[in-house]
Amino acid sequence: MAALRSKLPTTDTETAQEFYGRWARLYDVISRRTPGIPALRRRVAAACELEPGDTVVEMGCGTGANLPYLREQVGPDGTVVGIDFTAPVLERARELTAEYDNVHVVRGDATQPPFRRGAAGGDRPLDEETDVDALLATFVVGMLDDPAGAVDDWCNLVGPDGNVVLANAARSDEWYSLPVNAVFRAIVVLSTPPTTKLRYENEPHLRLDRKIDAAHRRLRERSRAVADETHVFGIVRLTGGRLE
Ligand SMILES: C[S@@+](CC[C@H](N)C(=O)[O-])C[C@H]1O[C@@H](n2cnc3c(N)ncnc32)[C@H](O)[C@@H]1O
Repeated sequence: MAALRSKLPTTDTETAQEFYGRWARLYDVISRRTPGIPALRRRVAAACELEPGDTVVEMGCGTGANLPYLREQVGPDGTVVGIDFTAPVLERARELTAEYDNVHVVRGDATQPPFRRGAAGGDRPLDEETDVDALLATFVVGMLDDPAGAVDDWCNLVGPDGNVVLANAARSDEWYSLPVNAVFRAIVVLSTPPTTKLRYENEPHLRLDRKIDAAHRRLRERSRAVADETHVFGIVRLTGGRLE
């Protein structure tokens, strides 16, 4: 919470929180029940390459759709931390994970994590000795002003030999991409918070593509082993990196 307060919210940040707060229940249903999405969430959790007892952080966890899959990977002795800056989505994430005492949902800014590697912080469930073994961010970097910079910070938080996994929706490159991308563009336009920047943007899906490219490229640069995959008609790009 301290970290959140320390950064004055911009209009775009407030708009994003208002948008996801208002649609938390609907988003929760779509993000967990859309055909193909549960399998994707299981896959991104597996791509974190976790072992029982590990610690994993999810940035921008939303209503918590990935958290049960991450808990499955680390087991009862591991730790799962979900961070998001929108209070109503976190309430839903807490309900979803209430049965697990090792899944923690924290309000904070993903670009200013409320804890540092190997250091005690403010509102955080990790102690000084805890290393973060993996970090996951799904459908988040497209909302950040500096996606590559955030990926750098996340890699620094995890450290050598840890895993960082990104999954994001962008335009498909498949041969049948024309109709798929038309639907994708409509979804992006409808589901993008009406921020001051995007209000004047004719092609928000192109801007989203650029941000996602920048984030995934930076993760590849920071990794010594990389897994790149596409899912859901080529629209969802998954990059998993084992850090140098
Ligand atoms: C499209 S949703 C994705 C939620 C979840 N990762 C999923 O896969 O369903 C984006 C989420 O990122 C959160 N978010 C965006 N920017 C953030 C930031 N700087 N700090 C924390 N959360 C952020 C929003 O509140 C929202 O819940």
